[in-house]
Amino acid sequence: MTVNAHSTTPRPAATPATAMKKIIVLGATSGIALEVQRQLAHQGCELLLVARSPQRLADLQSDLLVRGAQQVLTYSADLASIQQHAAIFEFARHSFPDFDTVLLAYGSMRNQKDSETSVDVLLEELQVNFVSATAILTLFAADLERRRTGCLAAITSVAGDRGRRSNYVYGSAKGALSLFLQGLRSRLHPAGVRVITIKPGPVQTPMTDHLPNSARFVDPEQVARDIVRALERRSPDVLYTPRIWRYIMTAVQQIPETIFKRLSF
Ligand SMILES: NC(=O)c1ccc[n+]([C@@H]2O[C@H](COP(=O)([O-])OP(=O)(O)OC[C@H]3O[C@@H](n4cnc5c(N)ncnc54)[C@H](OP(=O)(O)O)[C@@H]3O)[C@@H](O)[C@H]2O)c1
Repeated sequence: MTVNAHSTTPRPAATPATAMKKIIVLGATSGIALEVQRQLAHQGCELLLVARSPQRLADLQSDLLVRGAQQVLTYSADLASIQQHAAIFEFARHSFPDFDTVLLAYGSMRNQKDSETSVDVLLEELQVNFVSATAILTLFAADLERRRTGCLAAITSVAGDRGRRSNYVYGSAKGALSLFLQGLRSRLHPAGVRVITIKPGPVQTPMTDHLPNSARFVDPEQVARDIVRALERRSPDVLYTPRIWRYIMTAVQQIPETIFKRLSF
C-alpha cells in the first residue's frame, strides 16, 4: 500500500455553477474513470483516487492537478481484496473527511470461456465484480447514512439486464450488483443519500479493445459526461449511457426466453 497526498493552493473553479465536491474514485485507473476524473478536475473538484498501481496513481495525480483539481490524494490497494477495505476506508475518513461522493468504477471482464472451464476464474470474476464491490460499498454506505448526506454511484453494465450465452458470468455479477444497489438505494433514501446505478453500453476502453467492432463502441468521454452530470444533479436512479441503451434493453428484456435462449450472442 502506498499513500500519496498532494494539493495546490485554492483557485477558483473553472465552472462556478458547480459546487465544490470531494469525490472518492474506487478503480481510478479504469478507462471510464480516467475521463470522469478529467472532467471533475476541470471543475476544480477534490479527489481521492484508489487503484492498484502506485506509478499510474502518481501520474494521474500530476495530470489532474494540472487540469484544475483542488486536491488529489491517492491510495494504492487491490480493491478485489476485501482484507484491504478497512484500511482504504480509514484512510478516506481521516485524510479526506467530509467526502460527499463515492464512485465505484473497477471491474473485470475476462473471457467467458475461461469461466466455463475454470471454477477459480469464475469465482475471481464474481469476487471482483460483485462480492468485493458490495463489501466496500457497505463500508461507505454506513458512513454516508450516519452523516445523512452524499451520493454512492457504481458502474454496473447493460450486460446485467439479461443473461447472454457469451458473457453471462460477467453479466450475472453486474446484474447482482445492480440488484444490490437497488436495495441499498431504498435503505439510504430516508437518510437522503443518493445511490446511482450506472449502466454503460459498450465503451472503447482497455476492457473492450480486443473485441470485434470495438472501434465502433462509444467514446469514454461521452459516457463520462453522462456520469458527471448524474453525480451533479438529481438525476435518474438508474443511468443508462448512452441513453439509447435504456430503450434497447427494454426491448431485449421483452424477448421471450424460448427465443432468447436460441440467440448465439
Ligand atoms: N468498457 C465497457 O464496454 C463497459 C461497459 C459496461 C460497463 N463497464 C464497466 O465499467 C467499469 C470500468 O471499466 P472500463 O471499461 O473503464 O475498463 P478498464 O479500463 O479495463 O478498467 C478496469 C478497472 O478495473 C480494475 N481491475 C480489473 N481487475 C481488477 C482486479 N482483479 N482487482 C482490482 N482491480 C481490478 C483495473 O485496474 P488496473 O488498472 O490496475 O488493471 C481498472 O482500474 C467496470 O466496472 C466495467 O465492468 C465497462
